[in-house]
Amino acid sequence: YFSGVKLVVETPEGTIFTYRGANITLPCYYHYEPELQTPRKIRIKWSKLREDNTKEQDVLVAAGLKHRSFGDFRGRVHLRQENEQEASLVITNLRLQDYGKYRCEVIDGLEDESSIVELEMRGVVFPYQPPRGRYRLNFHEAKKACEEQDSVIASFEQLFKSWEEGLDWCNAGWLMDGTVQYPITLPREPCGGKGMAPGLRSYGERHKNLHRFDVFCFSSTLKGKVYYLARLQKLSLEEAKQACQDDGAEIAKVGQLYAAWKFFNLDRCDAGWLSDGSIRYPIAFPRPNCGPPEPGIRSFGFPSGGKYGVYCYKMS
Ligand SMILES: *[C@@H]1O[C@H](CO)[C@@H](O)[C@H](O)[C@H]1NC(C)=O
Repeated sequence: YFSGVKLVVETPEGTIFTYRGANITLPCYYHYEPELQTPRKIRIKWSKLREDNTKEQDVLVAAGLKHRSFGDFRGRVHLRQENEQEASLVITNLRLQDYGKYRCEVIDGLEDESSIVELEMRGVVFPYQPPRGRYRLNFHEAKKACEEQDSVIASFEQLFKSWEEGLDWCNAGWLMDGTVQYPITLPREPCGGKGMAPGLRSYGERHKNLHRFDVFCFSSTLKGKVYYLARLQKLSLEEAKQACQDDGAEIAKVGQLYAAWKFFNLDRCDAGWLSDGSIRYPIAFPRPNCGPPEPGIRSFGFPSGGKYGVYCYKMS
């Protein structure tokens, strides 16, 4: 507040929903109350809040015609200023980790006002266990395991949303915030007890180096296609990788199979190899002899050998 003039910065109140790979605009507008006769020189700064509310991550700063973007936003962000009082941010080719809260800040030398806009990614959460078995991952390894499956470690909000949509899993997994939790929709004895209400069961924060669990990963839609490779003969894992390559594709990752199932209703009642050496198949429309009555990815774990089909991923 200076000499009776107030700077006001506004962003939408509701969350903006988007997908991986999309281009999105985060709207932001500013004005003065009462209106100024001569415009002031302003700077605009966009930053991203972190989950743990520590230091914000710089996204973009702009003063006049000079713009600068930072870190992994470099080359993917620019301002949209269709009129004098707009300071909207455009992010192109959204990545899985771009969800979260963004601050639009306007600085005019005398005043500094900001407003927050929230971006949420539509996606799918899946529990992940490495080939070596249950409860083998510390936090850092858990993050890496998700990344290797074309996904990121899930946030609490993402797991909560999946639980609301019916996810039930009786093994505890790491989340982005360093806690270990699992989602239960049908309370039962080995999963926190029958007497407890449905919900997320939490082990709280765990030691990121010493404690070992599974992990919940998050993925969103795909550019490209996952498909079951039709072959007369069943294949070993090595043959399966080669067969996808011969088809101009790659053996699919677990996150890609989940994304194809969730976003494109991939449905195939044939077990096939994935890149991590697991055997799975996607069922969007449950039917007899194709696993349980709910839609889902069926898993046969990590066989030590044997011959199966294969799911491939082809970029488009
Ligand atoms: C996003 O914008 C880029 C550059 O402006 C364009 O090449 C690309 O096709 C757009 N992507 C989508 C999904 O609209």
